[in-house]
Amino acid sequence: MKLSSLLIGLCALCGVALTQAADPIVINFSHVVAPDTPKGKAALRFKQLAEERTNGRVKVEVYPNSQLYKDREELEALQLGAVQMLAPSFAKFGPLGVREFEVYDLPYIFPNKETLYRVMDGEIGKGLLKKLESKGLIGLAYWDNGFKQMSANKPLKIVADFKGLKMRIQSSKVLEAQMQALGANPQVMAFSEVYTALQQGVVDGTENPISNLYTQKMHEVQKYLTISDHGYLGYAVITNKKFWEDLPADIRSTLEQAMQEVTKYEREIAQKENDEALAAVRAGKTTEIYILPDKERLAWQKALLPVHTQFESVVGKDLIYGIYNIAAQVEKERKK
Ligand code: LMR
Repeated sequence: MKLSSLLIGLCALCGVALTQAADPIVINFSHVVAPDTPKGKAALRFKQLAEERTNGRVKVEVYPNSQLYKDREELEALQLGAVQMLAPSFAKFGPLGVREFEVYDLPYIFPNKETLYRVMDGEIGKGLLKKLESKGLIGLAYWDNGFKQMSANKPLKIVADFKGLKMRIQSSKVLEAQMQALGANPQVMAFSEVYTALQQGVVDGTENPISNLYTQKMHEVQKYLTISDHGYLGYAVITNKKFWEDLPADIRSTLEQAMQEVTKYEREIAQKENDEALAAVRAGKTTEIYILPDKERLAWQKALLPVHTQFESVVGKDLIYGIYNIAAQVEKERKK
Protein backbone atom coordinates (compact mmCIF):
# COMPACT_ATOMS: atom_id res chain seq x y z
CA MET A 1 0.00 0.00 0.00
CA LYS A 2 1.27 3.43 -0.90
CA LEU A 3 2.25 5.69 1.99
CA SER A 4 -0.33 8.28 0.89
CA SER A 5 -3.26 5.82 0.97
CA LEU A 6 -2.06 4.49 4.32
CA LEU A 7 -2.11 8.05 5.65
CA ILE A 8 -5.56 8.66 4.20
CA GLY A 9 -6.77 5.44 5.85
CA LEU A 10 -5.26 6.42 9.17
CA CYS A 11 -6.80 9.88 8.98
CA ALA A 12 -10.18 8.34 8.26
CA LEU A 13 -9.81 6.19 11.35
CA CYS A 14 -8.75 9.22 13.38
CA GLY A 15 -11.81 10.98 12.04
CA VAL A 16 -14.08 8.18 13.29
CA ALA A 17 -12.33 8.15 16.64
CA LEU A 18 -12.61 11.91 16.92
CA THR A 19 -16.29 11.89 16.01
CA GLN A 20 -16.91 9.20 18.62
CA ALA A 21 -14.96 11.04 21.25
CA ALA A 22 -16.66 14.29 20.42
CA ASP A 23 -20.19 12.95 20.21
CA PRO A 24 -20.89 10.37 22.86
CA ILE A 25 -24.42 9.11 23.25
CA VAL A 26 -25.76 10.98 26.26
CA ILE A 27 -28.11 9.35 28.74
CA ASN A 28 -29.63 11.87 31.11
CA PHE A 29 -30.76 9.91 34.16
CA SER A 30 -33.09 11.94 36.33
CA HIS A 31 -34.38 10.93 39.74
CA VAL A 32 -35.98 12.49 42.80
CA VAL A 33 -34.07 11.01 45.74
CA ALA A 34 -30.69 11.79 47.33
CA PRO A 35 -27.45 10.37 45.85
CA ASP A 36 -26.80 8.35 49.02
CA THR A 37 -29.88 6.13 48.76
CA PRO A 38 -30.20 2.70 47.12
CA LYS A 39 -31.53 4.29 43.90
CA GLY A 40 -29.05 7.19 43.99
CA LYS A 41 -26.05 4.89 44.44
CA ALA A 42 -27.23 2.49 41.76
CA ALA A 43 -27.69 5.32 39.25
CA LEU A 44 -24.08 6.36 39.85
CA ARG A 45 -22.88 2.77 39.52
CA PHE A 46 -24.72 2.50 36.22
CA LYS A 47 -22.99 5.68 35.02
CA GLN A 48 -19.60 4.22 35.93
CA LEU A 49 -20.17 0.83 34.29
CA ALA A 50 -21.86 2.23 31.19
CA GLU A 51 -19.07 4.73 30.53
CA GLU A 52 -16.27 2.22 31.21
CA ARG A 53 -17.74 -0.64 29.22
CA THR A 54 -18.53 1.47 26.16
CA ASN A 55 -15.11 3.14 26.32
CA GLY A 56 -16.76 6.50 26.62
CA ARG A 57 -19.11 6.06 23.66
CA VAL A 58 -21.90 6.53 26.18
CA LYS A 59 -21.98 9.33 28.73
CA VAL A 60 -24.46 9.12 31.61
CA GLU A 61 -25.41 12.32 33.41
CA VAL A 62 -27.18 11.63 36.69
CA TYR A 63 -29.45 14.36 38.10
CA PRO A 64 -30.59 13.48 41.66
CA ASN A 65 -32.96 15.20 44.12
CA SER A 66 -35.52 16.42 41.53
CA GLN A 67 -32.82 18.78 40.20
CA LEU A 68 -34.25 18.52 36.69
CA TYR A 69 -37.84 17.39 37.17
CA LYS A 70 -40.31 16.49 39.89
CA ASP A 71 -42.15 13.14 39.93
CA ARG A 72 -44.77 13.66 37.29
CA GLU A 73 -42.74 15.99 35.12
CA GLU A 74 -39.91 13.48 34.77
CA LEU A 75 -42.22 10.91 33.19
CA GLU A 76 -43.43 13.47 30.67
CA ALA A 77 -39.83 14.49 29.98
CA LEU A 78 -38.92 10.86 29.30
CA GLN A 79 -41.80 10.38 26.91
CA LEU A 80 -40.81 13.57 25.08
CA GLY A 81 -37.16 12.48 24.93
CA ALA A 82 -35.82 15.31 27.13
CA VAL A 83 -34.26 12.68 29.43
CA GLN A 84 -33.39 9.10 28.60
CA MET A 85 -33.61 7.17 31.86
CA LEU A 86 -35.59 7.27 35.11
CA ALA A 87 -36.36 4.95 37.99
CA PRO A 88 -39.75 6.07 39.32
CA SER A 89 -41.41 4.25 42.16
CA PHE A 90 -44.32 2.00 41.17
CA ALA A 91 -46.90 4.48 42.45
CA LYS A 92 -45.91 6.91 39.71
CA PHE A 93 -47.08 4.60 36.90
CA GLY A 94 -50.78 4.73 37.78
CA PRO A 95 -51.23 8.34 36.63
CA LEU A 96 -49.47 7.37 33.40
CA GLY A 97 -52.35 5.00 32.72
CA VAL A 98 -50.66 1.73 33.67
CA ARG A 99 -52.93 1.11 36.63
CA GLU A 100 -51.86 -2.54 37.08
CA PHE A 101 -48.57 -1.27 38.51
CA GLU A 102 -50.48 -0.17 41.59
CA VAL A 103 -50.69 -3.81 42.66
CA TYR A 104 -47.21 -3.26 44.12
CA ASP A 105 -48.64 -0.54 46.40
CA LEU A 106 -51.33 -2.69 48.01
CA PRO A 107 -50.81 -2.65 51.77
CA TYR A 108 -49.38 -5.83 53.26
CA ILE A 109 -49.41 -7.72 49.97
CA PHE A 110 -45.76 -8.76 50.29
CA PRO A 111 -45.12 -10.61 53.55
CA ASN A 112 -41.37 -10.72 52.81
CA LYS A 113 -38.75 -9.75 50.22
CA GLU A 114 -38.52 -13.30 48.84
CA THR A 115 -42.13 -13.09 47.69
CA LEU A 116 -41.51 -9.66 46.26
CA TYR A 117 -38.48 -10.75 44.21
CA ARG A 118 -40.29 -13.78 42.87
CA VAL A 119 -43.13 -11.53 41.77
CA MET A 120 -40.90 -8.88 40.20
CA ASP A 121 -38.57 -11.32 38.46
CA GLY A 122 -41.29 -13.77 37.41
CA GLU A 123 -44.14 -13.68 34.91
CA ILE A 124 -46.10 -11.01 36.81
CA GLY A 125 -43.22 -8.55 36.96
CA LYS A 126 -42.18 -9.13 33.35
CA GLY A 127 -45.76 -8.74 32.17
CA LEU A 128 -46.08 -5.42 33.97
CA LEU A 129 -42.88 -4.05 32.42
CA LYS A 130 -44.17 -5.10 28.99
CA LYS A 131 -47.27 -2.95 29.51
CA LEU A 132 -45.08 0.14 29.56
CA GLU A 133 -44.34 -0.26 25.85
CA SER A 134 -47.78 1.07 24.92
CA LYS A 135 -46.69 4.32 26.61
CA GLY A 136 -43.50 4.57 24.53
CA LEU A 137 -41.35 3.24 27.37
CA ILE A 138 -39.17 0.20 27.98
CA GLY A 139 -38.79 -1.31 31.44
CA LEU A 140 -35.17 -2.34 31.90
CA ALA A 141 -35.08 -3.57 35.50
CA TYR A 142 -36.65 -3.54 38.91
CA TRP A 143 -34.74 -1.82 41.68
CA ASP A 144 -35.42 -2.20 45.35
CA ASN A 145 -35.82 0.22 48.19
CA GLY A 146 -37.68 -1.34 51.05
CA PHE A 147 -40.77 -1.61 53.13
CA LYS A 148 -42.43 1.65 54.07
CA GLN A 149 -42.79 2.99 57.58
CA MET A 150 -45.22 5.57 58.91
CA SER A 151 -44.16 8.84 60.50
CA ALA A 152 -46.05 11.75 62.05
CA ASN A 153 -45.92 14.33 64.78
CA LYS A 154 -47.98 12.15 67.06
CA PRO A 155 -47.45 8.48 67.93
CA LEU A 156 -48.99 6.03 65.44
CA LYS A 157 -49.67 2.86 67.37
CA ILE A 158 -53.25 1.86 66.81
CA VAL A 159 -55.42 2.46 63.76
CA ALA A 160 -57.44 5.13 65.58
CA ASP A 161 -54.26 7.24 65.86
CA PHE A 162 -54.55 8.04 62.14
CA LYS A 163 -57.95 9.64 62.46
CA GLY A 164 -58.06 12.97 60.64
CA LEU A 165 -54.27 13.15 60.11
CA LYS A 166 -53.13 14.74 56.86
CA MET A 167 -50.78 12.15 55.39
CA ARG A 168 -48.63 12.85 52.33
CA ILE A 169 -48.83 10.13 49.70
CA GLN A 170 -47.44 9.55 46.24
CA SER A 171 -49.90 9.97 43.40
CA SER A 172 -51.56 6.57 43.72
CA LYS A 173 -55.22 5.70 44.12
CA VAL A 174 -54.24 2.61 46.12
CA LEU A 175 -52.29 4.74 48.58
CA GLU A 176 -55.20 7.14 48.78
CA ALA A 177 -57.51 4.24 49.68
CA GLN A 178 -54.94 2.89 52.13
CA MET A 179 -54.81 6.17 54.10
CA GLN A 180 -58.59 6.48 53.99
CA ALA A 181 -58.97 2.92 55.32
CA LEU A 182 -56.89 4.03 58.30
CA GLY A 183 -59.10 7.08 58.81
CA ALA A 184 -56.46 9.56 57.60
CA ASN A 185 -56.76 12.32 55.05
CA PRO A 186 -54.39 11.58 52.13
CA GLN A 187 -52.60 14.46 50.39
CA VAL A 188 -50.85 13.84 47.07
CA MET A 189 -47.58 15.73 46.86
CA ALA A 190 -44.32 15.58 44.91
CA PHE A 191 -41.45 14.01 46.84
CA SER A 192 -39.36 17.20 46.67
CA GLU A 193 -42.04 19.15 48.54
CA VAL A 194 -42.52 16.77 51.47
CA TYR A 195 -39.88 18.12 53.85
CA THR A 196 -41.20 21.70 53.69
CA ALA A 197 -44.80 20.52 53.92
CA LEU A 198 -43.99 18.58 57.09
CA GLN A 199 -41.98 21.44 58.51
CA GLN A 200 -44.75 23.96 57.92
CA GLY A 201 -47.50 21.62 59.08
CA VAL A 202 -49.18 21.49 55.66
CA VAL A 203 -49.23 17.72 56.28
CA ASP A 204 -48.91 15.88 59.58
CA GLY A 205 -47.16 12.76 58.48
CA THR A 206 -46.00 10.54 55.65
CA GLU A 207 -44.80 7.06 54.69
CA ASN A 208 -41.53 5.99 53.09
CA PRO A 209 -38.67 3.58 53.53
CA ILE A 210 -36.28 5.00 56.12
CA SER A 211 -33.52 5.62 53.58
CA ASN A 212 -35.78 8.24 52.00
CA LEU A 213 -36.97 9.66 55.32
CA TYR A 214 -33.41 10.06 56.58
CA THR A 215 -31.72 11.41 53.45
CA GLN A 216 -34.44 14.06 53.06
CA LYS A 217 -34.05 14.92 56.77
CA MET A 218 -37.75 14.28 57.31
CA HIS A 219 -36.96 12.78 60.71
CA GLU A 220 -35.97 16.29 61.85
CA VAL A 221 -39.57 17.36 61.35
CA GLN A 222 -41.29 14.12 62.41
CA LYS A 223 -41.38 13.29 66.09
CA TYR A 224 -42.65 9.72 65.75
CA LEU A 225 -41.80 6.83 63.47
CA THR A 226 -43.61 3.49 63.44
CA ILE A 227 -41.84 0.48 61.96
CA SER A 228 -44.90 -0.99 60.32
CA ASP A 229 -43.59 -2.49 57.04
CA HIS A 230 -47.13 -1.96 55.79
CA GLY A 231 -46.28 -1.50 52.14
CA TYR A 232 -43.43 -1.71 49.69
CA LEU A 233 -41.56 0.90 47.67
CA GLY A 234 -39.55 -0.18 44.66
CA TYR A 235 -38.67 1.15 41.24
CA ALA A 236 -38.91 0.30 37.58
CA VAL A 237 -35.89 1.55 35.65
CA ILE A 238 -37.28 2.84 32.39
CA THR A 239 -36.07 4.33 29.17
CA ASN A 240 -37.62 5.90 26.10
CA LYS A 241 -38.49 3.08 23.66
CA LYS A 242 -37.46 4.93 20.52
CA PHE A 243 -34.18 6.07 22.05
CA TRP A 244 -33.37 2.53 23.19
CA GLU A 245 -34.28 0.84 19.94
CA ASP A 246 -32.26 3.37 17.93
CA LEU A 247 -29.06 2.62 19.87
CA PRO A 248 -26.36 0.64 18.03
CA ALA A 249 -26.95 -3.04 18.91
CA ASP A 250 -23.56 -3.51 20.60
CA ILE A 251 -24.09 -0.46 22.81
CA ARG A 252 -27.59 -1.61 23.72
CA SER A 253 -26.43 -5.04 24.79
CA THR A 254 -23.48 -3.60 26.76
CA LEU A 255 -25.88 -1.31 28.60
CA GLU A 256 -28.31 -4.17 29.25
CA GLN A 257 -25.48 -6.21 30.75
CA ALA A 258 -24.36 -3.26 32.89
CA MET A 259 -27.95 -2.77 34.05
CA GLN A 260 -28.17 -6.41 35.15
CA GLU A 261 -25.03 -6.08 37.24
CA VAL A 262 -26.17 -2.80 38.75
CA THR A 263 -29.54 -4.33 39.64
CA LYS A 264 -27.79 -7.08 41.56
CA TYR A 265 -25.70 -4.47 43.39
CA GLU A 266 -28.74 -2.29 44.07
CA ARG A 267 -30.68 -5.11 45.67
CA GLU A 268 -27.67 -6.02 47.80
CA ILE A 269 -27.32 -2.53 49.24
CA ALA A 270 -31.02 -1.64 49.69
CA GLN A 271 -31.56 -3.37 53.02
CA LYS A 272 -28.23 -2.17 54.35
CA GLU A 273 -28.99 1.46 53.42
CA ASN A 274 -32.32 1.25 55.24
CA ASP A 275 -30.78 -0.40 58.31
CA GLU A 276 -28.09 2.27 58.48
CA ALA A 277 -30.65 5.03 58.03
CA LEU A 278 -32.69 3.63 60.92
CA ALA A 279 -29.59 3.57 63.13
CA ALA A 280 -28.85 7.17 62.14
CA VAL A 281 -32.42 8.31 62.92
CA ARG A 282 -32.16 6.56 66.27
CA ALA A 283 -28.82 8.24 66.99
CA GLY A 284 -30.24 11.63 65.95
CA LYS A 285 -32.71 11.48 68.86
CA THR A 286 -35.20 13.71 67.05
CA THR A 287 -37.70 10.92 66.55
CA GLU A 288 -39.19 8.28 68.81
CA ILE A 289 -39.16 4.89 67.10
CA TYR A 290 -41.96 2.44 67.75
CA ILE A 291 -41.84 -1.12 66.44
CA LEU A 292 -45.36 -2.25 65.70
CA PRO A 293 -46.01 -5.41 67.75
CA ASP A 294 -47.65 -8.42 66.05
CA LYS A 295 -50.97 -7.87 67.81
CA GLU A 296 -51.29 -4.32 66.55
CA ARG A 297 -49.98 -5.29 63.13
CA LEU A 298 -52.91 -7.69 62.84
CA ALA A 299 -55.31 -4.84 63.60
CA TRP A 300 -53.64 -2.65 60.93
CA GLN A 301 -53.88 -5.54 58.47
CA LYS A 302 -57.54 -6.04 59.24
CA ALA A 303 -58.21 -2.37 58.51
CA LEU A 304 -56.14 -2.41 55.33
CA LEU A 305 -56.93 -5.71 53.63
CA PRO A 306 -60.28 -4.47 52.23
CA VAL A 307 -58.18 -2.22 49.97
CA HIS A 308 -57.12 -5.37 48.06
CA THR A 309 -60.76 -6.22 47.26
CA GLN A 310 -61.51 -2.60 46.46
CA PHE A 311 -58.81 -2.62 43.76
CA GLU A 312 -59.48 -6.02 42.23
CA SER A 313 -61.26 -4.47 39.29
CA VAL A 314 -58.52 -1.86 38.74
CA VAL A 315 -55.31 -3.87 39.00
CA GLY A 316 -56.84 -7.25 38.17
CA LYS A 317 -57.96 -10.09 40.41
CA ASP A 318 -55.56 -12.49 38.66
CA LEU A 319 -52.63 -10.32 39.57
CA ILE A 320 -53.61 -10.07 43.23
CA TYR A 321 -54.29 -13.79 43.54
CA GLY A 322 -51.10 -14.56 41.62
CA ILE A 323 -49.18 -12.72 44.34
CA TYR A 324 -51.10 -14.48 47.13
CA ASN A 325 -50.13 -17.82 45.57
CA ILE A 326 -46.46 -16.92 45.38
CA ALA A 327 -46.56 -15.74 49.03
CA ALA A 328 -48.16 -19.06 50.04
CA GLN A 329 -45.52 -21.00 48.12
CA VAL A 330 -42.69 -19.09 49.83
CA GLU A 331 -44.32 -19.72 53.21
CA LYS A 332 -44.62 -23.45 52.45
CA GLU A 333 -40.97 -23.71 51.47
CA ARG A 334 -39.93 -21.88 54.63
CA LYS A 335 -41.78 -24.38 56.79
CA LYS A 336 -40.07 -27.38 55.20
C1 LMR B 1 -41.83 9.17 47.01
O1 LMR B 1 -42.32 10.00 46.21
O2 LMR B 1 -42.11 9.13 48.20
C2 LMR B 1 -40.84 8.15 46.49
O3 LMR B 1 -41.36 7.64 45.31
C3 LMR B 1 -39.53 8.72 46.20
C4 LMR B 1 -38.61 7.72 45.57
O4 LMR B 1 -38.40 7.79 44.37
O5 LMR B 1 -38.12 6.86 46.30
